[in-house]
Amino acid sequence: MNTDVLRTGPVVVLGAGGFIGARLVSELLTHGCPEIRAVDRTAGGRMSAWSADPRVRAHTVDLVDPRAADRLAEVIAGASCVVHLAASTAMDRGVLDGGAEIVEAARLDLAIADAVRNFSRSAVLVFASSSAVYGRLASERACAEEDGPLRPISAYGAAKVAGESMLSSYHELFGLDVRVLRFGTVLGAGLDRGVVPALVRQVLDGAAELSVLGDGTQQRSFVHVDDAVRAISTTARTPGPRFEVYNVAGEGSTSVAQVAALVAEEAGGKPVRYGTRKQGWAGDIPVVRLDASRLRALGWHGGSSLDAVRRGVADLLRTGVELREDELNRRREVRT
Ligand SMILES: NC(=O)c1ccc[n+]([C@@H]2O[C@H](COP(=O)([O-])OP(=O)(O)OC[C@H]3O[C@@H](n4cnc5c(N)ncnc54)[C@H](O)[C@@H]3O)[C@@H](O)[C@H]2O)c1
Repeated sequence: MNTDVLRTGPVVVLGAGGFIGARLVSELLTHGCPEIRAVDRTAGGRMSAWSADPRVRAHTVDLVDPRAADRLAEVIAGASCVVHLAASTAMDRGVLDGGAEIVEAARLDLAIADAVRNFSRSAVLVFASSSAVYGRLASERACAEEDGPLRPISAYGAAKVAGESMLSSYHELFGLDVRVLRFGTVLGAGLDRGVVPALVRQVLDGAAELSVLGDGTQQRSFVHVDDAVRAISTTARTPGPRFEVYNVAGEGSTSVAQVAALVAEEAGGKPVRYGTRKQGWAGDIPVVRLDASRLRALGWHGGSSLDAVRRGVADLLRTGVELREDELNRRREVRT
């Protein structure tokens, strides 16, 4: 099948109130998607942005709540594409209750896979995974999708591997049509956590110098949120049914010191003060490099990682930054 699954039927966006989900809904609207079912456990915020648009139906549902199974069935029924972006993204949470985080994510992913299997089996299911599945392997080399063994070092990464594995088995057993996207570090307007928004916030607050928590040697393969969203539409449109995995990242990688230098330059040459830590928190991988050649072979272009940072910084300086509570807490903890 090679029809445009983003135009033929309802598109379900799970986690639509999040950073990537909200951007995806806006893009789908711009590109003529006739019906979007936007689902998140949190009402208001980004979810209220489309309240006047008749093409968007907003649903407030906690997808791990077994009592919500009927609502989930209703939301999934008849969809041509389901984009699953719902997850707990407080990265250091797994340090405190790793088992609980893995179990919650597994229940969430399973509930969604079962709903697709039972109520819209021909839908393309796009699953948001992460570079965290590679663990330290992504420090040794720019990982391609077939690299392994996958040995995550965080509960978050372990949960993503579990989700991918479960969907692989559902593809084999029940014919689910699955695209797994292993995102690098996504950034752009609306991002509320991580080093780039934290530095931009300091600029907007008029800090005399910029303060970086780590020693600046951490490296990431960044990708701009617009390109991350284009990766979702590009891969959703590839013919299936199949189970395919794609890395989503700009070319190369960028160090935190490069990010800080860029932000400092934008702020008129402010000095930058570094901490001593190499690792942000237990489970954080100091260097993450991804190879997105497979995605580029589909015609997707995400530019370079450094270019993604430039664009993201410009977006955040223009739109402003509101840091999320868990990000603020982490920064307070490191300083005390
Ligand atoms: N942003 C990144 O750099 C990045 C990198 C790698 C992977 N990812 C993955 O991409 C996806 C989207 O990331 P994001 O940056 O938009 O995260 P986000 O935290 O901004 O958004 C996630 C959304 O999911 C919702 N959600 C969580 N649990 C839910 C539940 N039980 N029921 C209903 N809604 C629920 C949250 O309320 C939130 O709005 C996630 O799966 C994340 O793990 C993101």
